[in-house]
Amino acid sequence: MLKFPSDFTWGCTTASYQIEGAWLEGGKGLSIWDAFSHTPGKIQRGHTGDIACDHYHRYKEDIALMAELGLPAYRFSLSWPRIQPTGYGKPNPKGIRFYSKLIDELLKHNIIPWVTLYHWDLPLALQMEFDGWLNPKLADFFVDYADICFSHFGDRVKHWITFNEPWVTAILGFGQGVFPPGRVSNREPYQVAHQMLRSHGKAVELYQRKYHHQNGEIGMVCNCDWREPKSDREKDREAAQRAVEFFLGWFGDPIYFGDYPEVMRYRVTDRLPQFTPQERDQIKGSTDFWGLNHYTTMYASDTEITKKAGKAFSNVGLAEDQNVQLSVDPKWKKTSMGWAIVPWGLNKLLHWIDERYNRPKIVITENGCSLNDKMLNGMVDDPMRIDYLKNYLSECHRAIQNGVQLKGYFLWSLMDNFEWAFGYTKRFGIYYIDYISKKRIPKSSVAWYKQVISNNGF
Ligand code: GAL
Repeated sequence: MLKFPSDFTWGCTTASYQIEGAWLEGGKGLSIWDAFSHTPGKIQRGHTGDIACDHYHRYKEDIALMAELGLPAYRFSLSWPRIQPTGYGKPNPKGIRFYSKLIDELLKHNIIPWVTLYHWDLPLALQMEFDGWLNPKLADFFVDYADICFSHFGDRVKHWITFNEPWVTAILGFGQGVFPPGRVSNREPYQVAHQMLRSHGKAVELYQRKYHHQNGEIGMVCNCDWREPKSDREKDREAAQRAVEFFLGWFGDPIYFGDYPEVMRYRVTDRLPQFTPQERDQIKGSTDFWGLNHYTTMYASDTEITKKAGKAFSNVGLAEDQNVQLSVDPKWKKTSMGWAIVPWGLNKLLHWIDERYNRPKIVITENGCSLNDKMLNGMVDDPMRIDYLKNYLSECHRAIQNGVQLKGYFLWSLMDNFEWAFGYTKRFGIYYIDYISKKRIPKSSVAWYKQVISNNGF
């Protein structure tokens, strides 16, 4: 039996646009995801988040499921345009009321809320009027929005996350153009990430100064895959290290050291913005924990060796800036996203973070897999998901044994939901959603996770 430390947090994660629906209800404004999903050709099968899991109307039912699971913590995100329809100005009372009731309902069931302020659904007006995250002004809007959230919910919410995966907004939204606002550039991703880091720094400063008395914690969540050197050659080892620095160090280094990794400054040169000394001070140390979303691993080799530039076929980043060629072992099993299942990659990544940032408190804020789950006789059996979770959790346990300060694990996701550009074609949930009836059906992983939570291990 692998026992986890007694203070270890178990949870599940969701995000507003992926589950709420009610896109035109309760005074909500439009987000860039509403506009993008309504643009023909952007989302598989023309799916949108208009209704999604209808969580907006069924949140009580969903919290009852969490209670049944014995879930100690739940990470979800606030829809900025539900709270501020245009992204600035007075808060929308109905939006505030919705989240307030949601938080109360969680607390009533002893479920601790972990709240993400920004999980990609930017108010559309901020995109149309100000060019979204390209504009330095966004930091001021974001801080006003954060202020509203801390002041209305901070009496009950003690775990805050400013941004979910700024890498995704930067690379997929402004580099590859597959997420809104759908731009393709080799400069803008760096500018956008820069504005998000500035916004993060300012919001954390506000929280620590004005809401100190709320006694909460705040941090950022970053996604990172592991990059394993393809060979023992020095060049490949450097390529793998460089790839992780471009992925996670891009955000981790400013937050822990006050500036971008040396290798990025050297390679990206004048396309990489610079922090003012004041921004540097504000961003450095602006986190109480390190939130990590992790799903997969790839091999990395230097393009001098492969003579081939990395193709933007998956979580690559701006490959031409890195000179890294990525590949996978054909023997690795894959999820229905095509992501390789490589549990030891998580272990190596946890140690990488532990060493580079000097033993920070780490929380895995997302991990899980999408599978071709099918309902048969009213039941959904997902043994492969249970295996995935077991193997990834075993690596978490091993890392803790070896001294990594890993304090929690949140499974992605509580239920099947709108998987961004893939629409509803990918199922990550431990609850299956029948999208016609909106019925929630527990997959076999529910019973398994429930045991893990109650035994604090498996
Ligand atoms: C993360 C994201 C989630 C979810 C998950 C699975 O990048 O934060 O919203 O979609 O990936 O792809």
